[in-house]
Amino acid sequence: MAGYYPGMQDGDNRRPFTPGLLRGRAALVTGGGTGIGRGIALALAAHGAAVAITSRSADHLEPTRRELDLLGVRALAFAADVRDAAAVEAMVASVAEGLGGIDIVINGAAGNFVCRAEDLSPNGFGAVVDIDLKGTFHVCRAALPHLKRSRGVILNLSATLHYLGTAAQLHVSAAKAGVDALTRTLAVEWGPYGIRVNGIAPGPTEDTEGVRRLLAGEKRERARRLNPLRRLGTVEDVAAAALFLCSEAAAFINGVTLVVDGGQWLASHRVSGEP
Ligand code: COA
Repeated sequence: MAGYYPGMQDGDNRRPFTPGLLRGRAALVTGGGTGIGRGIALALAAHGAAVAITSRSADHLEPTRRELDLLGVRALAFAADVRDAAAVEAMVASVAEGLGGIDIVINGAAGNFVCRAEDLSPNGFGAVVDIDLKGTFHVCRAALPHLKRSRGVILNLSATLHYLGTAAQLHVSAAKAGVDALTRTLAVEWGPYGIRVNGIAPGPTEDTEGVRRLLAGEKRERARRLNPLRRLGTVEDVAAAALFLCSEAAAFINGVTLVVDGGQWLASHRVSGEP
């Protein structure tokens, strides 16, 4: 079988975690059809979890659902727009019924485009805040009864854009800052239910829509050069962090957003020091 992470080469035997790490768990991954969401869904399945993926577009889902199937776990797909709270309620109920409960929720659905604030329409700002921030809230809210029963885990996909000022990313920066606040607050409110709520903040990640949109051509090379580890992140870098945070190895980690960027944002504001 080819690698269980997208991008993993045949014959690559890196397996940092035991294959049964998440056996018996049921996971919901929004935005699970493509990009980082797909990578996390495949990694969860490769470690024994049953997985349901959702996306706005049914076309994005079926190829990934088939890949999940090939990993030998129960794999479901539901089209739902996370902006629509009622659709999310129905989707979460179907997932819980189909998988026999929900132990893990990955909020991966996100939207982005490059646009300076002065050109951004209220609707453009709202579209991204609705997907990234309100969508995350809708899914967490709908999943709560199931997570209370399972004493489960939530993982919110964030970003590092808002740690500094990132031009043409006001809408995403505002949304992801909100997601980080949501992660911290839910960690405090839902910790007593035995639910852990954490986040992951990837930097620019190869083979994702985000990098295709934000880092064209020379910009991508420059980002590689400026990264302390001299490369961009990969989907498997992010998936490995997700496996860790969803596992019992992270049993006492709650309210944290783990940066997975090779140290990029720490180095990104330096005027001097460019190699
Ligand atoms: N520049 C400026 N404004 C833009 C834009 C761009 N490149 N793309 C969309 N918008 C604006 C639209 O003009 C519209 O505002 P208006 O009504 O004032 O004109 C608003 O955003 C909504 O656009 P619409 O195309 O109707 O939204 P959508 O719900 O179909 O799309 C987006 C959602 C906007 C997030 C879209 O970029 C998308 O679907 N992206 C794909 C997923 C993605 O981005 N993944 C990467 C994750 S990092």
